[in-house]
Amino acid sequence: MTMLRDILTIFFLAFTLLLLLTAMVSLFLGVPYVPSKRRVIDALLEYVPKKNNLKVYDLGCGNGKILFQLEKKKGIIGTGYELAPLVFMFAILQKWLRRSKVKLRYANFFHQNLSDADIILCYLTPGILEKLGKKLQNECKKGTLIISHTFKIPGLNPKHIQERDMAKKLPTLYIYEI
Ligand SMILES: C[S@@+](CC[C@H](N)C(=O)[O-])C[C@H]1O[C@@H](n2cnc3c(N)ncnc32)[C@H](O)[C@@H]1O
Repeated sequence: MTMLRDILTIFFLAFTLLLLLTAMVSLFLGVPYVPSKRRVIDALLEYVPKKNNLKVYDLGCGNGKILFQLEKKKGIIGTGYELAPLVFMFAILQKWLRRSKVKLRYANFFHQNLSDADIILCYLTPGILEKLGKKLQNECKKGTLIISHTFKIPGLNPKHIQERDMAKKLPTLYIYEI
C-alpha cells in the first residue's frame, strides 16, 4: 500500500514538473499550445496534393494531429517539430498507439533546414511568423507551398486566402507559394 502511494506520488510530481516545464517553454517560445480542430485540419489538407513522396513539415506540430490525418488521408509521412515537453510526449504516445510512421522531432524549427520542403504547415502567432517569414524566404525552394492557420506571414504575399467561414466555424487560411 505504501509502495503504491510512493509510486503515485512520484508519478504526480513528475507530471506536475512536466506541466510546469511545458508552461515555461510555451512562455519562452511565445506560442501557446492550441490544437487545430478536426474540421480545420480537413480544410488545411484540401490544399495538400495526394503525392506520397512530398516533404511536409508541421512547424510546432503539437500533438501531431495534423500529421496523423495527413498520413491517413493522403498517405504522406510528414515531419513535425515540437518543443513543449508534455505535448511532445503526448504526440509520441499517439504515434505509438496509431502505429504511425510520422516523424516527430523534439527540436526548435528555427534550427532546422527547410530547404527541401514541398509543403510547410503552421499555426503560430504573428510575432513568430514575422521571424519565420524571413527564414522561409531565404531558405525555401521555389514552389514550396506554405499554409498558415489563422495568421498571415508578414513579408510574404499570399497566393490565396481562404476567408473565415463563421457558419462552418473555419478560420482564415493563408496559402503562400515561394
Ligand atoms: C498553436 S500550437 C499548434 C499545434 C498544431 N500545429 C496544431 O495545429 O494542432 C503551436 C505549437 O508550436 C510549438 N512551437 C512554437 N515555437 C516552436 C519552435 N520554435 N520550435 C518547435 N515548436 C514550437 C508550441 O509549443 C505549440 O505546441
